[in-house]
Amino acid sequence: GGTNHPLSLLKLVLALLGMLKCFLLTGNEPLTILPLTSEMEEAAIKAHYKVCDRLKLEKKQRRMCRRDPGVAETLMEAISMSALECQYQFRFERWNCTLEGRYRASLLKRGFKETAFLFAISSAGLTHAMAKACSAGRMERCTCDEAPDLENREAWQWGGCGDNLKYSNKFVKEFLGRKPNKDLRARVDFHNNLVGMKVIKAGVETTCKCHGVSGSCTVRTCWRQLSPFHEIGKQLKQKYETSLKVGSTTNEATGEGDISPPKKSIPGHSDQIPRTTDLVYIDDSPSFCMMSRYSPGTSGRKCYKDKNCDSICCGRGHNTQSRVVTRPCQCQVRWCCYVECKQCTQREEVYTCKD
Ligand SMILES: *[C@@H]1O[C@H](CO)[C@@H](O)[C@H](O)[C@H]1NC(C)=O
Repeated sequence: GGTNHPLSLLKLVLALLGMLKCFLLTGNEPLTILPLTSEMEEAAIKAHYKVCDRLKLEKKQRRMCRRDPGVAETLMEAISMSALECQYQFRFERWNCTLEGRYRASLLKRGFKETAFLFAISSAGLTHAMAKACSAGRMERCTCDEAPDLENREAWQWGGCGDNLKYSNKFVKEFLGRKPNKDLRARVDFHNNLVGMKVIKAGVETTCKCHGVSGSCTVRTCWRQLSPFHEIGKQLKQKYETSLKVGSTTNEATGEGDISPPKKSIPGHSDQIPRTTDLVYIDDSPSFCMMSRYSPGTSGRKCYKDKNCDSICCGRGHNTQSRVVTRPCQCQVRWCCYVECKQCTQREEVYTCKD
């Protein structure tokens, strides 16, 4: 299926730093000279092509990535933002969103709930990052919210700059490709990608600002703003909890498939028909307790007593380690302008899952 996969953030950052260093060292001109020489320009273009090539994109996606350095930058940002948000949302779970190479690849091959979350958070991340990149002026092909209504025109005039969701939706739809027909897995991935985009759209808020004599609000201008990405992550995590298992039915007339509840009733599962806002999955997840191709397991995982040790240690119990930590405490702000703290020594228990 045509998808943008979350990649290891660290690897990408290291790759990028490596590239920059290389670029700086090979440039013939010292950095103090401002106008770019054609060689440097060429090197900059090559650097952004390299970013695109490293992302393991499909042909068309790579073309879209290469057409503007802003796209490459936004893709990188979207990937790291989605990966970090996933790890944050799953920090107390057995699966903590470990996305190292082989685990990621194995997960993305299957249709687990976790896979559904990964697809949704990735496309949400890209939609979010692209809309922000437009309003921040980092893109060649889009600017602020281009809604045709007057209110926004005025907002633009007043310096209010809306996040350009219209452009980013168009871009992400094109990036993800056409709706697949036959393959159930591809259709499920596509569906979950759309769920991610919908959550972004539903979270748009209108921000207004008053103008006029001493803020009398005789003139009011409004523009649209996206929810913070943490909020998006939280909502997608809730959708993950309530995601629906689906099978496939084929419409005999058109040959087109539909996503439907599985034929046989599964105990504990409703025969609910998934809505376009539900995350859907095909395969039941592994327990993520033991090391497998999907995760390193939970042995040695730090857990929180009375919170998640029982659940994430999978009945194996946990080790308790006592240690002494010294931390700044009872801090006070002093005039002017520093913070004074005492050092407190505390005994602290650290819990980790047994092997
Ligand atoms: C997830 O848990 C494993 C241990 O099971 C640990 O090595 C890894 O650092 C954790 N990852 C994150 C992102 O917290």
